[in-house]
Amino acid sequence: MAIDTEASRRASFVPGSPAAPFAVERAEGAYLITPDGRRILDAAGGAIVVNIGHGRREVAEVAARALEQLTYVVPTFATEAKTRLVERLTERWLPEGMTSASFTSGGSESIEAALRLARLHHVCAGRPQRWKVIGRDLSYHGITLAALAVGGHAGRRKGYEPLLLDFPKAPSHYCLECSLGRTTPDCREQAADKLEEVIVREGPDTVAAFIAEPIVGGAGGALVPPDGYWPRVAEICRRYGVLLIADEVMCGFGRTGEKFAVNHWGVVPDIMVAGKGLAGGYAPIGGVYATDDVVAPIAERGEDLMFYTFTAHPAACAVADKALEIVEREDLVARVRTMGELLANRLSRLAGHPNVAQVRGLGLMQAVEIVRDRDTLERFPAEERITRRIVAAGLKKGVFFYPAGSGPAQDVIMLGPPFIITESDIDLLVNVLEESVEAAVSRRAGASPDK
Ligand SMILES: Cc1ncc(COP(=O)(O)O)c(C=O)c1O
Repeated sequence: MAIDTEASRRASFVPGSPAAPFAVERAEGAYLITPDGRRILDAAGGAIVVNIGHGRREVAEVAARALEQLTYVVPTFATEAKTRLVERLTERWLPEGMTSASFTSGGSESIEAALRLARLHHVCAGRPQRWKVIGRDLSYHGITLAALAVGGHAGRRKGYEPLLLDFPKAPSHYCLECSLGRTTPDCREQAADKLEEVIVREGPDTVAAFIAEPIVGGAGGALVPPDGYWPRVAEICRRYGVLLIADEVMCGFGRTGEKFAVNHWGVVPDIMVAGKGLAGGYAPIGGVYATDDVVAPIAERGEDLMFYTFTAHPAACAVADKALEIVEREDLVARVRTMGELLANRLSRLAGHPNVAQVRGLGLMQAVEIVRDRDTLERFPAEERITRRIVAAGLKKGVFFYPAGSGPAQDVIMLGPPFIITESDIDLLVNVLEESVEAAVSRRAGASPDK
């Protein structure tokens, strides 16, 4: 059947970027294949999701068997697929001390569950006055209303503000505009310690949790914190009895060269959320993970968290278990470190480009921030849609980049290729990115953004 991109756009609430009314018929490895046979390097793994690569037959076979064996049961029942996945996660993946796992259909639902879990924890522990969740200004935690409310993605919140609880925000570590300079080795004063100010200002007894992405994804574009940041944040949260929620939806499951990004700093959060890489795009599944201390007061009171209909869907769990087994068997987290270094190394030549403010990231989660003038950090006018132009130029040249950025980090191209990417793919990616930036900035005057 022919894929009608225009009809698909008209019929959808999510029309996508006019720069990319794009049909994809199938995919294999690190490549998407269009109906007319063009091969597009998936330099973003979709929405930074695909980790083991596209089109693995053994995963498809597991899905087929799982669907045949057990279509669906109410999530309170135990299933072999869920039991296996929980075992794999608690024994081999989650940070030490995280002993519970619950599954959802994706990131936003998982964030909602994490927020409810934090609240239920305090209620059951006899602290019902603790309800506020502190978020950060440059952040994205999902598109459902509570996730939007704790997040700080100005563009995605716009227009919905009356529906969003006004949760307090602490500043992110956006080092590019930090008063200490672009490459400050330690900006704890500027970022982590601000969290303490917010907790004190709000009244510690009213604060249930602090939520943050260990490495900021789409909202800021692979913002890696200075080394002292997360240990300091964990210490502050502990001191004030505030639960620490790490949103690893994008940066988790090996994406940054550790199983989870918090491992880079030896921090164990109270609650963690991670989705995209859990099944590497082979199933819509996310998860919420917690320590015994979080769950104990809830269990003691005989309470539990209401499930979603598709919580721990058996086939999704079976597929996630297989995807993680492949990451382990092929030692792909180690490969992320090697290929991540190679990518950073190749990207470094863009760092001197007059329109590149910064190249940043860790492992295979990297980003390039585009500005009009790298010395003054003047941004392009938003209506010039530079990011969209770069993505469109990349697609024409055979590479898909992920458009990102919000607030001051307005124009960001994110890179999050499958972990199986090769050295020659990386060369192609960087060459096409350089050409696409050049094409977008030099054609900006008078050109339509959608051409
Ligand atoms: C850090 C982070 N949290 C939460 C979400 C929301 O996940 P989903 O789109 O699966 O609902 C995303 C999605 O991009 C994300 O990057």
